[in-house]
Amino acid sequence: MRFINFKNLITLLATSTTLIKVKGVRIESCTEPNTIALTFDDGPYEYTSELMDTLKAAGIRATFFVNGFNYWKDLPENKEKQQIWVRATQEGHQIASHTWNHNIPENQTEFEENMKKLDDLVEANTGYRPTYARAPLGHCDEECTIRFEKLGYKLIQWDDDSFDWDYEKGSDGQIKNLDKVIEQSHEKLQKRWDEKKENYLVLMHDVYEHTVKQIVPWFIENNPYKDYKFVTVAECLGDKEFASLIKTNNNDTSSNLNATTTDANNGTNNDSQKDSTSNGVLTSSISIYIITLLTFAIYLLF
Ligand SMILES: *[C@@H]1O[C@H](CO)[C@@H](O)[C@H](O)[C@H]1NC(C)=O
Ligand SMILES: *[C@@H]1O[C@H](CO)[C@@H](O)[C@H](O)[C@H]1NC(C)=O
Ligand SMILES: *[C@@H]1O[C@H](CO)[C@@H](O)[C@H](O)[C@H]1NC(C)=O
Ligand SMILES: *[C@@H]1O[C@H](CO)[C@@H](O)[C@H](O)[C@H]1NC(C)=O
Ligand SMILES: *[C@@H]1O[C@H](CO)[C@@H](O)[C@H](O)[C@H]1NC(C)=O
Ligand SMILES: [Zn+2]
Repeated sequence: MRFINFKNLITLLATSTTLIKVKGVRIESCTEPNTIALTFDDGPYEYTSELMDTLKAAGIRATFFVNGFNYWKDLPENKEKQQIWVRATQEGHQIASHTWNHNIPENQTEFEENMKKLDDLVEANTGYRPTYARAPLGHCDEECTIRFEKLGYKLIQWDDDSFDWDYEKGSDGQIKNLDKVIEQSHEKLQKRWDEKKENYLVLMHDVYEHTVKQIVPWFIENNPYKDYKFVTVAECLGDKEFASLIKTNNNDTSSNLNATTTDANNGTNNDSQKDSTSNGVLTSSISIYIITLLTFAIYLLF
């Protein structure tokens, strides 16, 4: 009898250990204080290069959540267009996955194949495989999040939406009331600024002309908190491993990687904040797990 109970206990322990490994936690915000992580989804596209000029002039590093097959239909074959990721890496930006074709297949095999396809393409141009991902439209429930986590991605949302996507096109293909769209975006961003948050994880899209030509320049010009630091998503989460991943894989010294490298190592913060989001959840689930286990053990004994 004792033996059987002991075996039950081991089985329970094994099952529970598997359960706590997968949590399905989307990351909604940065953890490092005084940081701003600008993120751009859905590219690359014809405006991305101009955006990088703007960012470079302002000394800003950002994160691009990219697709392999979205706005540029020939990107998978077109090596010249793929160079945009070589440049992005040289200039200290982070490339992250936004899925292959802006879609999450229900079929797990297809999902994994698609994610791998994008990672292969990115790796060929950056020297590293994306370890961060964002779901198309940010639509991903807990079960879906677990699918990303099982493949080793951190799933990233945002806490500051630029609303650059919130527009309609007329029959002529032009954006209706473009001025209103831009005004709304400025208002939304300004409102978040006024909250004086500790850090910002900003959602934008480099595939829109109005984002690149109007919203981003306005954002840079009006940034009222000069003591905030513009960093990549990995950095705003205190992920030092990611910085070393880029360094070891990129031997190009001709660009302003210089600044990037020192910045990454000279963060104002310690490791104490690292992964605070996921660790918190993990710790609480471990506690629940131990309590359950103890209760069950006592039950078995009597
Ligand atoms: C899932 O996708 C794979 C690869 O595309 C395919 O071979 C398989 O038949 C699909 N499974 C189902 C259940 O549709
Ligand atoms: C590193 O440098 C070598 C030699 O110049 C080059 O062949 C290789 O492609 C470079 N690697 C990356 C990731 O840039
Ligand atoms: C790297 O930084 C040093 C010192 O600040 C500077 O002199 C040098 O020009 C920089 N190199 C490049 C490629 O930016
Ligand atoms: C990095 O930090 C060290 C130690 O605090 C400091 O001496 C150095 O000037 C910093 N470098 C930069 C580029 O901020
Ligand atoms: C990091 O934390 C340690 C221990 O708390 C402290 O001694 C050190 O000065 C901190 N470094 C920075 C850069 O804040
Ligand atoms: Zn998207």
